[in-house]
Amino acid sequence: MEHVATPSWAMFAYLISGVLFILALRGLSSPATSRTGNRFGMIGMTIAVVTTLVTHQIASLPEIVGALAIGGGIGWVTARKIAMTDMPQLVAAFHSLVGLAAVLVGWAAYLNPEAFGIAGPDGVIEAQSRVEMGLGIAIGAITFSGSVIAFLKLAGKMSGAPIMLPGRHVLNLGTIIAILGLVGYFTQDQALWVIATVTALSFIIGFLLIIPIGGADMPVVVSMLNSYSGWAAAAMGFTLHNTAMIITGALVGSSGAILSYIMCKAMNRGFLSVIAGGFGAEASAGGGEAREQRPWKRGSAEDAAYMLGEAEKVIIIPGYGMAVSQAQHALREMGDLLKAKGVEVKYAIHPVAGRMPGHMNVLLAEAQVPYDEVFELEDINSEFATADVAFIIGANDVVNPAAKTDKSSPIYGMPVFDVDKAKQVFFIKRSMGGVGYAGVDNDVFYMDQTLMLLADAKKMVEDINKGLAH
Ligand code: TAP
Repeated sequence: MEHVATPSWAMFAYLISGVLFILALRGLSSPATSRTGNRFGMIGMTIAVVTTLVTHQIASLPEIVGALAIGGGIGWVTARKIAMTDMPQLVAAFHSLVGLAAVLVGWAAYLNPEAFGIAGPDGVIEAQSRVEMGLGIAIGAITFSGSVIAFLKLAGKMSGAPIMLPGRHVLNLGTIIAILGLVGYFTQDQALWVIATVTALSFIIGFLLIIPIGGADMPVVVSMLNSYSGWAAAAMGFTLHNTAMIITGALVGSSGAILSYIMCKAMNRGFLSVIAGGFGAEASAGGGEAREQRPWKRGSAEDAAYMLGEAEKVIIIPGYGMAVSQAQHALREMGDLLKAKGVEVKYAIHPVAGRMPGHMNVLLAEAQVPYDEVFELEDINSEFATADVAFIIGANDVVNPAAKTDKSSPIYGMPVFDVDKAKQVFFIKRSMGGVGYAGVDNDVFYMDQTLMLLADAKKMVEDINKGLAH
């Protein structure tokens, strides 16, 4: 690829696509505008890709079309086949590809600097480009190995429990300092061993940063890796002198960082300790403890239908189990039936309910639940005191009071819904044996006002709807 100064019309086109990406992010901030947001993003990306193809002699048209067809085909088949519940690991897998692409581009630029227009007349790579290349490869490699571990953990192919190495903080810090030192040294000496060591150490640190994290802290990891993949792309944008890539990478990097920050707040974790890795480390104590034998009450769909119909205010708390059983449509119908009886219905969404950010919002939107009935944790938590029924459907960790009281619990510190304040609690899950993501018992099962509705969520709600329709 010959590096020539980008023509001004192309700079303008990149600017337009940058603005469209910002509009896309803005649109994606609310379910009501997310489709428009996605469209802005797609148009922006098309402009950026076409501009790049027109202004760079990268490869022949058949090569580009061939590559697009192969990559696009794999993406299309994967996206169609993937179950909604497997989304987090798919996202992690895709992040790993962004990281790997950054490493490969960096290496290609190192091995053939003339083609990238970053070599002086004597074949020596410009110092500034060496820094960009070194950092790009380092961030890319960290993103790659970190995302592979996150994928394996989320897909259940590797234990989700934190794996703790002795002295890991010293080891991590030492490795990061060594990487930065070598990138600095790379400006003086462009020897192969320097960049090869940077690559190897970065693969290792990505691995080391993610293995100590486990259990309920994985959502933060996914959004953090999302942010890293953006910074890797931005660094590559510098190496390739591509403004669109710098803008896009920076947008992904910073929006991912903001999302990580929001998730950390939702989980009550320190942002800096997340970046340092292993922040969920001390949190394994309570996991998998023996279940207590305590009395609990079982309810039926008829009981639930009757009490729901008599209620004035019902707050529905959906969780991962709703996604598993795809109960959102039946649930929307239940909401409609209740509203027809004059019952006030609200949905309470926890920031980490389900298995990915926005998981519940997407499913409820798909079932056409009105947006104005859907509330975030901090906006609705005080309302449980005035609710007649807290209707928990496939949620578990996000209503577990151990998060408030039990210091040894893996979810300690995470804000949870105050369902115990509601007059009546219905708890849908398949069996008393099943646990939530964090693997811990839940006091809500055994409360006086709780009725356990043990069944598949969709089946249970359909049966409740039959009762309500009478
Ligand atoms: P969980 O705590 O995972 O609980 C899921 C509940 O659904 C369990 O009680 C399970 O019990 C029940 N369930 C599963 N399949 C069901 C079905 N077909 N019908 C009825 N019930 C079913 O869910 P949550 O409250 O949404 O919590 C989310 C957890 O996932 C948090 O710990 C969070 O940190 C973690 N996490 C979140 C994310 C993001 S970003 N949201 C990403 C990764 C991890 P049974 O098995 O007995 O049915």
